[in-house]
Order: sequence, then structure tokens, then C-alpha cells
Amino acid sequence: MIGMLENLETRQGLPVEMQTLLRDYPRDAWPDHPNFAASIQNWLGAHVMFGRLADIVEKDTQTQLDRNSDLRDYVGRLGHFGNLLVANLHGHHTWEDRNYFPELSRADPRFDGGLQMLEADHEVLDAGLQRLTEHANRTIQLATLDPKQVREQAALVLQDVRDVKTYLGRHLPDEEDLIVPILLHHKMRG
Ligand SMILES: [Fe+2]
Ligand SMILES: [Fe+2]
Repeated sequence: MIGMLENLETRQGLPVEMQTLLRDYPRDAWPDHPNFAASIQNWLGAHVMFGRLADIVEKDTQTQLDRNSDLRDYVGRLGHFGNLLVANLHGHHTWEDRNYFPELSRADPRFDGGLQMLEADHEVLDAGLQRLTEHANRTIQLATLDPKQVREQAALVLQDVRDVKTYLGRHLPDEEDLIVPILLHHKMRG
């Protein structure tokens, strides 16, 4: 059971009781640490990419709602970048749940509560991605079937992608603050 302090939509950062290793391995010191492996850098890079894809979908949709882009171009880009965002992000956290978190738990079971919190975040994120997918697909269909109705659906896409950005803005830094110190401390993924 996830309480208010651990809930993605209400918490203010990594809960203090999960910061045991973060105090010894603060974020500023990660890049220069000898155990900061390329695979850790790549994982952090994937997080940056999700933010960029969400930014593209948000900006494109806002531009369309402001009537400053061609509808065909917009839905083409929405299909492309929306799909990249949803597919890559869903694949990323499915891999974390099935492979990465169990590996971390075996290395240091002290943080199992934190990993469970992050898994619960993934469920909230998945629900947001599901809404985004439905509204984006409907927007793309309406561009052909009934263009006058596109605006209403695109407004929902804008809200959905903003929700996803809000979730990512809390989930990703907390996930990194929990996990990178474990990786450095146990010299993992080198
Ligand atoms: Fe992640
Ligand atoms: Fe995650």
C-alpha cells in the first residue's frame, strides 16, 4: 500500500527514509565517481529523451490549437513522436519492473520499499500513456473523417501530455536519486 508521502501525485521528492545512500552519493558527485559507468549514463540519457519527446508533442499540439500549423503535418508528427514517447517509455519501465529492480533488490534489499514506490509510479504513468494513446489515435482519425472535431480531441491530447510531463517530472528524479547511489555503492553495471 502506497501512502500519501510515496504517491506520485502528492509527494515532494524521494522520501527521507529512502535517502540513506543518497547522502553519501549526492547527485553533484555522480559524474566524477569512478563507478559511474557508461550504462548508468545511458539510462539517465533515456530519461532525458522521454522529456524531449513529451516536449515535442506538447509544443506541436499547442501550435495546432493556436491554428499555426497544417493539420496533416500535425497528425503526422503526432503519430510519429507520440508513438515514440509511448512505446519507448512503456518499454523502459516494463524492463525496469521485470529486470532492473529485481537486480537492484538482490544487490541491496534495504531499498525494496523505494522500488515498490517506483513500480506504483509506473502504473500511474501507464494510465496516463493509455489516455494519451486513445486521444492521439482519435485525433489522427478525425483529421481524415471529420476535421472540424479535431480541436476538441487535440485539447485532450494537450492535457494528457502535460499530465505525463508532470508525472515524469516527479518520477524520474526520484528514481535516479534512489537508484544511482545503489549502483555506485555496489559498483554495478560497470
Ligand atoms: Fe527509468
Ligand atoms: Fe521508471
